[in-house]
Amino acid sequence: MCGIFGIVTEKDQPLGSILIEAARRLTYRGYDSVGAATISGSRIDLRKDVGKVDEVAERYHFAEMTGSRGITQLRWATFGAPSQVNAQPHLDSDGDLVGAHNGNVVNNVELRQQFMAEGMTVRSHNDGESCVHAVERYIDRGYDFIEAIRRAYQDLQGDYAYVIGQINDDKLYAVKKGSGLVVGIGEGFTCVSSDLPSILPLTRKILRIQDGEIITLWADRVELRSVTDGRLIEREPERVTETMEAVQKGGYAHFMLKEIHEQPQVAREVLHRLAGSAEVDQALAAIRNARQVYFIGCGTSYHACLAGSVYFAQLAGKAVIPVLAPQFIPQYLPAVNRQDVGIFVSQSGETKDVLNALQAAQAQGMTCLGLANVIGSTLTKATACWLPLCCGYEISVPATKTFTNQVVTFLYLAYRLAGKDDRPLEDIPALMEQTLSAAESQIQAIVPAINPWNDMYCLGYGATYPMALEGALKLKEITYAHCEGMLSTEFKHGPLSAVTDNYPVIFVAGPQDVPLIVSGINEVTCRGGRAIAIGQEDSRLRANASDLITLPAASPEISSLLSVLPLQLLAYHLSVERGYDPDFPRNLSKTLTVD
Ligand code: M6R
Repeated sequence: MCGIFGIVTEKDQPLGSILIEAARRLTYRGYDSVGAATISGSRIDLRKDVGKVDEVAERYHFAEMTGSRGITQLRWATFGAPSQVNAQPHLDSDGDLVGAHNGNVVNNVELRQQFMAEGMTVRSHNDGESCVHAVERYIDRGYDFIEAIRRAYQDLQGDYAYVIGQINDDKLYAVKKGSGLVVGIGEGFTCVSSDLPSILPLTRKILRIQDGEIITLWADRVELRSVTDGRLIEREPERVTETMEAVQKGGYAHFMLKEIHEQPQVAREVLHRLAGSAEVDQALAAIRNARQVYFIGCGTSYHACLAGSVYFAQLAGKAVIPVLAPQFIPQYLPAVNRQDVGIFVSQSGETKDVLNALQAAQAQGMTCLGLANVIGSTLTKATACWLPLCCGYEISVPATKTFTNQVVTFLYLAYRLAGKDDRPLEDIPALMEQTLSAAESQIQAIVPAINPWNDMYCLGYGATYPMALEGALKLKEITYAHCEGMLSTEFKHGPLSAVTDNYPVIFVAGPQDVPLIVSGINEVTCRGGRAIAIGQEDSRLRANASDLITLPAASPEISSLLSVLPLQLLAYHLSVERGYDPDFPRNLSKTLTVD
């Protein structure tokens, strides 16, 4: 997820340190490149490159940048590889406009062709540059700035926000469509940013911007207009009183809840990133030619490997071996060779168990690919080809959004391997939103029935089996109850003896497996247990389960992905009900760099 920040002051002054600090405060979103631009009279000073904020700022001497207006941007590559030219901000053709964006302009490829055909100078492959040229196109045709932005809005498809300025002017402009944008109003300056943490050290007087609004920022005032008809919008500024930590939680009580609710947005990001990615083509070619494929990870990431192996088999007819990383060495290493491929999966990219397996596999000549969230982590440096999870920072120890994006990535790869039309996957973000909003109250309603128990089961079958394991892990991790994840059909082979009156057993039901799940439910309810089903609305589940947490209608594979969201919410609410901090469970660490 990229981040943008812009500031307008009364006169030329040193802006470098303000821009560096603003960029630092956006780093939690995740990024690979950093840039800054200042505007002073008729001069634009633009410096940018791939790397960490402090490294790039030092290398390019950001601290010495001066001007009356400044923009900084952190880029997380979507369109165009991470590179100096693709880093933001961007100039227009003749270098008198400068701007940067956050989000995705989904028709970027077509727009670039149009801009070049119209004679504009297009320097990068990045969609932030398309925002600048989209405005330039109408400025060059004689429209004023607001009108140019309104017209550009019609041309730029996708969810984004951008900030842009011109030489010999005293303003910056910004527009919001789908991505976050907040304005800050200070003494002698105004600023705009993707998020509050970069604004709050400067001012606590803010304006929250809505989609379809254009903001003009002067040093002493701001003006909001509707992109639809250009009319002025009146809005009183508000004063932020929360602590910085509360602000970073975005209004949620915990990072975990915030990250659960970020899943639709990050799923959208990763799907954009995967479409047309050269690394995907490379990974698919390796998988197609492999003698044997392994998906390797630990904990939550292993559950994603398991889900991936089910999708690969069911959708593409490709058998893959999912392996817990430490077991890879004793069980599979003796049998692997150069014709085999491993995908090493890790949120942090630093898990020692995964890196040990990777090192051993590489020594054996196996082709090793990566799937990681943290750019620049050891896993991303050690694998020649890796796919990013595009989740931004995941702060809470329990993994949520990184798990679903691992699963989305495997689903996408399975679709592509099968040669299936992948457009149905574009529905995932909206289906996740529906799932979360429907599940919230249903989950809260069953928490009191589960709370007295410190022992329970979570069962699934086929593609919902990995989700049951993941739900059980979340419950164990943050509620401190013992919850065993299991294949639903195994329950009768022993664990059924645990069932007593009201004993909770959660069943994750795939739409195609309802008859089998209903049998399992009855084995529990006829012994007095409480069978809590998670599945699509179905009269058989409704009639047999003690409770039904409903999922929206979706294909079996997408439905299995959705089913983990209510489980995350259940673990979260049960943890809070018990008075624990779900973000930082006892004894655990987010990154396990030890054997
Ligand atoms: O960073 P990784 O994905 O390699 O971490 C692996 C596990 O430690 C991790 O998935 C862990 O199980 C989760 N934080 C649990 O929520």
